[in-house]
Amino acid sequence: MSSGFPGEASAWKTGLVIFQQPASGVRHTTGVPVAIGVFMLAMVCAGVAAAQPTRTGLGRPATPVEIESWGPIIGPDGAGLPPGRATAADGRPVYQRRCARCHGLTGREGPDTRLAGGQGSLEGDQPQKTVGSYWPAATTLWDYVNRAMPFDRPGGLTADEVYATVAYVLYLNDIVAIDDPIGAATLPAVEMPNRDGFVTDPRPDIAPTAPPGL
Ligand code: HEC
Repeated sequence: MSSGFPGEASAWKTGLVIFQQPASGVRHTTGVPVAIGVFMLAMVCAGVAAAQPTRTGLGRPATPVEIESWGPIIGPDGAGLPPGRATAADGRPVYQRRCARCHGLTGREGPDTRLAGGQGSLEGDQPQKTVGSYWPAATTLWDYVNRAMPFDRPGGLTADEVYATVAYVLYLNDIVAIDDPIGAATLPAVEMPNRDGFVTDPRPDIAPTAPPGL
């Protein structure tokens, strides 16, 4: 039986909780709506379910082996960044080949998300959220590019290619120089322009966290 939904019989990876379709052989006559409904619910719950899987009764905690299989998870402090090193000069040809068609040669032209420019615009009438204007840490940029880019082939870059393209995107934002070595030791020390632009969550049930980069 097929519901026609591509995720059927396989697990969805949403946050740290796995959502799974009914095992094959389970009958449900409204396959497509059910699948889409479960999927949408899974997406809505993904943000909170990792912390509270038992409250919704949906999903199950991801196992350490599954989490490991998704590759390194790099937070603001940069812990776990793999070995590797590159400069923006190394990154330019990689960026031009793997990124520019969607983000533009200077990171400003699109057609997809703008990556450069916009610094100081966040409080104006036309805020531009870019890596240079918005992102508080360079380490999580490595994590994001490593995990999610290129958009049509995520996870396809080597660690060095990620360092190289990250260095080039930082260079396009005037944050590093063309020959600055960017690697596990230097990336956490990069000071992002908007590093002080975030506040900790004021809700009493959320423990305070250190500002990014500290
Ligand atoms: C096929 C098109 C495509 C390619 C190729 C591509 N990207 Fe993207 N990129 C996107 C899209 C679409 C988004 C927005 C994704 C979203 O919001 O979920 C994005 C988002 C991003 C972001 C987050 C921007 C922000 O502030 O939210 C960064 C950083 C980024 N891309 C870097 C890169 C790098 C570096 C490469 C090359 C290694 C690359 N991208 C290749 C389409 C692409």
